[in-house]
Amino acid sequence: MSYKNLLWAVQDETVIVTINRPDKLNALNTETLAEIKDAISKFKADKTLRGAIITGSGEKAFVAGADISEFSEFKEQQGYELSKNGHDIFNLIESSPKPILAAINGFALGGGCELAMSCHLRTAAPNAKFGQPEVNLGLIPGYGGTQRLIQLIGKGRATEYLLTGDMIKAEQALNWGLVTHVFDNELISNSIEILKKIYAKSPIAIGKTIDCINAYFNPDEDGLKFEIKAFSECCGTVDFIEGTSAFLEKRKPNFPVS
Ligand code: COA
Repeated sequence: MSYKNLLWAVQDETVIVTINRPDKLNALNTETLAEIKDAISKFKADKTLRGAIITGSGEKAFVAGADISEFSEFKEQQGYELSKNGHDIFNLIESSPKPILAAINGFALGGGCELAMSCHLRTAAPNAKFGQPEVNLGLIPGYGGTQRLIQLIGKGRATEYLLTGDMIKAEQALNWGLVTHVFDNELISNSIEILKKIYAKSPIAIGKTIDCINAYFNPDEDGLKFEIKAFSECCGTVDFIEGTSAFLEKRKPNFPVS
């Protein structure tokens, strides 16, 4: 796959999508967002890929936010379009039935933190720094940050984080549950090990679990009713037959890639 602002590399059935504008701390301009959308669509359609990692190029940043140079002249309608486009792309990530992990290697600010929060899993290097500094720009987060932050760390912490615009370090992000691991080294290979545990499970069940988690946060869904439907849809599938048979036959399941 060839992109101007992304690198696409495959390892262990995992695509590693690296946002590659290190001289701009991987800030998300329109072109980069369009490429992320294309890469996620290709990842979702490619049966040989079981999961994805999103990370940043260079030593300093995962993503330092939306590209401020592109929107400093914007009025309300253009702001709406920018925000709506970001929401659509990040919803595409969040709704992927295959896991997507953000491996955060430096600044994850503004849209960078929001990109990470739209992923199913988040790991960090010790130099990771997180923040929603939009209040310094006369703005608020526009790619889902006000909502996903509350979902991940709770209203009290999210309110302070959003209103002060303060940056937090990796250890604090770990304590707050914004990331689930801080790896001292080998961020990508350690992250792939987490994904490989998921690849050994039923792909159908993984997709349904992600749908149920997302249903909890969807005001149009009743999460418990959604779970009953999703559970019933698992029954009778090839994965269900393989998983339950393997248990009864005292062997490891071998789930087909769906
Ligand atoms: N949009 C556009 N360009 C950005 C950017 C962003 N969000 N973040 C960094 N850059 C650019 C800088 O303008 C600079 O470009 P230049 O060399 O052409 O001048 C380059 O990336 C390096 O950034 P610099 O500020 O020199 O690095 P630093 O180490 O001194 O500071 C940060 C790092 C992350 C603290 C600082 O870049 C920053 O505050 N960035 C903006 C963060 C932000 O507000 N994000 C939310 C946007 S909605």
